[in-house]
Amino acid sequence: MAKFLLPLHLLSTLLLSLFPISNSQALETQALLHFKSQLIDPMNYLESWKESDSPCQFFGVTCNFNSGKVTGISLAYKNLSGEISPSISVLSSLDTLLLQANSISGTVPSELKKCVSLQVLNLSMNSLTGQLPDLSTLRNLRVLDLSTNGFSGKFPAWIGDLSGLVVLSLGQNNFKEGEILPTIGNLKNLTLLYLAKCNLIGQIPASVFELTSLETLDFSQNQISGKLPKEISKLQNLYKIELYQNNLTGEIPPELANLTHLRELDISQNQMTGKIPAELGNLKNFTVIQLFCNNFWGELPKGFGDLQFLIALSIYENIFSGEFPANVGRFSPLNSLDISQNNFSGEFPRFLCQNNNLQFLLALDNNFSGEFPDSYAKCKSLQRFRISQNRFTGRLPDGLWGLPYATIIDIADNAFIGGISLEIGTSTSLNQLYVQNNRLSDEIPVELGKLSQLQKLYASGNSFSGQIPSEIGNLDQLTSLHLEDNVLTGSIPSEVGSCSRLVEIDLAQNALSGNIPGTLSQLASLNSINLSQNLITGPIPDSLQSLKLSSVDFSKNRLTGRVPPGLLMIAGDEAFSGNPGLCIDGKSGNEWDSDLGICKMDRRHKDILGNRVVLISIILSAMVILLAGLVFVSYRSFKLEESHKQKDQEEGIDNDSKWKVESFQPPELDAEEICKLEEENLIGSGGTGRVYRLELKNKGTVAVKQLWKGNGAKVLMAEIDILGKIRHRNILKLYSCLTRGELNFLVYEYMPNGNLYQALHREIKGGQPELDWNKRYKIAVGAAKGIMYLHHDCSPAIIHRDIKSTNILLADEYEAKIADFGIAKIAEESDLSCFAGTHGYIAPELAYSLKITEKSDVYSFGVVLLELLTSHSPIEPQFGEGKDIVYWVSMHLDGQNVAEVLDPRVSSSVEDDMMKVLKVAILCTTKLPTLRPTMREVVNMLIDADPCTSIIREKNCSKNC
Ligand SMILES: *[C@@H]1O[C@H](CO)[C@@H](O)[C@H](O)[C@H]1NC(C)=O
Ligand SMILES: *[C@@H]1O[C@H](CO)[C@@H](O)[C@H](O)[C@H]1NC(C)=O
Ligand SMILES: *[C@@H]1O[C@H](CO)[C@@H](O)[C@H](O)[C@H]1NC(C)=O
Ligand SMILES: *[C@@H]1O[C@H](CO)[C@@H](O)[C@H](O)[C@H]1NC(C)=O
Repeated sequence: MAKFLLPLHLLSTLLLSLFPISNSQALETQALLHFKSQLIDPMNYLESWKESDSPCQFFGVTCNFNSGKVTGISLAYKNLSGEISPSISVLSSLDTLLLQANSISGTVPSELKKCVSLQVLNLSMNSLTGQLPDLSTLRNLRVLDLSTNGFSGKFPAWIGDLSGLVVLSLGQNNFKEGEILPTIGNLKNLTLLYLAKCNLIGQIPASVFELTSLETLDFSQNQISGKLPKEISKLQNLYKIELYQNNLTGEIPPELANLTHLRELDISQNQMTGKIPAELGNLKNFTVIQLFCNNFWGELPKGFGDLQFLIALSIYENIFSGEFPANVGRFSPLNSLDISQNNFSGEFPRFLCQNNNLQFLLALDNNFSGEFPDSYAKCKSLQRFRISQNRFTGRLPDGLWGLPYATIIDIADNAFIGGISLEIGTSTSLNQLYVQNNRLSDEIPVELGKLSQLQKLYASGNSFSGQIPSEIGNLDQLTSLHLEDNVLTGSIPSEVGSCSRLVEIDLAQNALSGNIPGTLSQLASLNSINLSQNLITGPIPDSLQSLKLSSVDFSKNRLTGRVPPGLLMIAGDEAFSGNPGLCIDGKSGNEWDSDLGICKMDRRHKDILGNRVVLISIILSAMVILLAGLVFVSYRSFKLEESHKQKDQEEGIDNDSKWKVESFQPPELDAEEICKLEEENLIGSGGTGRVYRLELKNKGTVAVKQLWKGNGAKVLMAEIDILGKIRHRNILKLYSCLTRGELNFLVYEYMPNGNLYQALHREIKGGQPELDWNKRYKIAVGAAKGIMYLHHDCSPAIIHRDIKSTNILLADEYEAKIADFGIAKIAEESDLSCFAGTHGYIAPELAYSLKITEKSDVYSFGVVLLELLTSHSPIEPQFGEGKDIVYWVSMHLDGQNVAEVLDPRVSSSVEDDMMKVLKVAILCTTKLPTLRPTMREVVNMLIDADPCTSIIREKNCSKNC
């Protein structure tokens, strides 16, 4: 900029001397053309700005008719970027400069101060930065709007000199924190003062209340403290007060009611208390009243019922009580009412929708009682209707079930009776229907099947009877189905298997009978299923093992047959107890303490075992325990042989008897050797199959995964596709895969330290955790590098989609290896993949979007970091119902001692290092995916948190680092 100044001045002197006054137009043309040259104009608005034409013909330029001098430039909303040229200072008659709503950057040139004719200067809504130049010379300014830019530095003190200002708008800039300048009181003609969100602190200075012409006062979104002074009543022309999101305390002064023109009042999100002065009820012209999130109490002024222009009233999260003014809405075009989370009682007001304009009716969590007024049956304008957590009784008016525009109907936690009206079929915009915990009865209407947008259906805790309508199967957006604790009968309709987005099903505590439909295994997104306390019969379909379930409860039914081992592994035996006909396979390393029997073919051996134990114990009583153990092992391998034989007989018929072997990396393996899997070497079981440890002759130890039948081939392909091709120190090595008929085996390197989840919960002597912070840090960095490799070094990138502590394996010396690529995806493949992952690790955006990106892995990795830091699991009852570790940690962030989330057994002396990693974890688990770091950034941040670089702590950093 400075470089330009000199030539411009030379130019102007030169031009002026060559062409005296009469030809100053040429100079202005040059200035405008330079102004144009500094701008980028993608839409070519400035095409007409040519040297050959008079500037008065330029688009957006106006001139004085007599002198021919430029008086105005008007280029708002023109997609311009680039910078403002100081050449503009040549335009000595310029009175109006309008450049708002473009993308202009750089600073405001200080030469602007020479445009002393300026009356209107609007540069708002651009990307201007830096400190504002002193513009106090612009004494003719009436309108100064520099809002919504990135200006920094001190709030401009020279503003107080511009006493002719009518409009002053400097809000939404990054000024240095500071108090409101008392000299603002000089601007006696000010009608609009907009200082929102520009880092103001302290109290409102008394001089502001001398601005008696003021019509709009906006100090919102700052940190202004103190009380709202009664002197505000001196501003007799005010019609709009915006003070929301500040730190105001104290009460609303009754004098506020002297502002008879007041139409909009927003003092929400402060810390104000007291009653709303009854005098406010005398103000007739209110259109908007926002008082939410304060500590106001008492009754609302009755006068609010007389308002004729009221459009919006939002007062949620206060302590208001008593009856709600009965006439609110009766005489006004009320559109939005939110009175939730207060203590209003008595009858619900009946006129809110009197003028058929109400779209938002939110009154949840109050003490309203009695019947819900019939007057709302015709209120078809409603979009959000929420009256849950009150004490309503009687029937909900039929018309309120059929709301064509409603996206949410929430009447939960009341005492409504009657059924869901058939009119529900017209609520076709509905996303969420909450009717749980009422006294509703009758059958669930088949019309529910018409709600093609429905995602959440909560109807538990009522007395719904009859069958679950098969039309539920039409709800292909449904993610949550809660019908537990009713008196439903009949069988579970197999059509439920068509609700392909279902994540949770809860049908517990009904009287459902029939079999578990095998179609449930089509629900690829399903995470949690509860069918407990019904009368369900028949076997548990083996195919359910192929789902990525994290919570299962089939207890207290009449199920029979064998519990699929994959489900048992996930859910534990309690999930199947209370089903006398169920049995489980002989056990493999896990001591179930259950009422479930061993499946029949094993009974015989159990008896033999018993006899042998007795016999031996008589002979060698001193060695009973040891020997019993030995016998148990031999019993197990005996049993295993037996079951293998049986399996082979079952499968032998159609089996292709040849092994197909595909090797990816050495060692070369012998198929026959690999099939000799012993149950006692079982080391894990999960969504895709069981994993065994296997000692090979002369070739060390490998891990062999036997995939579940059914989706085995699919998983196999995914793993081979991905793992077969990539090599990285922190990715589990896949040696080879073997298939024969329906049997699929994958052979991996063996990880002696198991998975991270197990290791985190192991203890060494003295109750100390096996993993100290150095080990945990090493695991974090290793795992992060593995994922970084998938995201950034594989082309195309690979998204793992199921990062969790059980999928991070630990080699010797705790080197982390990412495993289980069964549901991983190549990032470019754009098929609408199904919802997948594990409860507690799933990024929040996946609940509403199926677009899976690398950032969902980043979220899951953040959860793993939180596990490493806290030693808690992602979901624990102590976090509260439906809450997870991310929520739990976030609850501690506001407190004084954030460090209390860290596992105290590991945090002593390394707290600072752990806090660095905690910051990374919090960034990774940010709600908005775009705000999460990339894995490359995560790795770099983790490296910065290396405990070994802290010189002070050399002692701790022994060989583990
Ligand atoms: C304020 O407005 C009045 C009336 O328009 C005008 O006469 C007066 O000069 C203005 N004050 C200043 C300081 O410009
Ligand atoms: C204002 O309140 C917020 C939130 O309660 C608090 O974080 C902040 O420190 C307060 N600021 C001042 C200046 O009191
Ligand atoms: C302002 O309000 C107060 C209290 O409501 C009242 O006593 C006073 O008379 C009012 N003043 C004017 C000028 O209206
Ligand atoms: C209230 O609003 C009406 C209609 O907009 C207007 O005519 C009237 O002057 C206003 N009253 C006050 C006291 O501002």
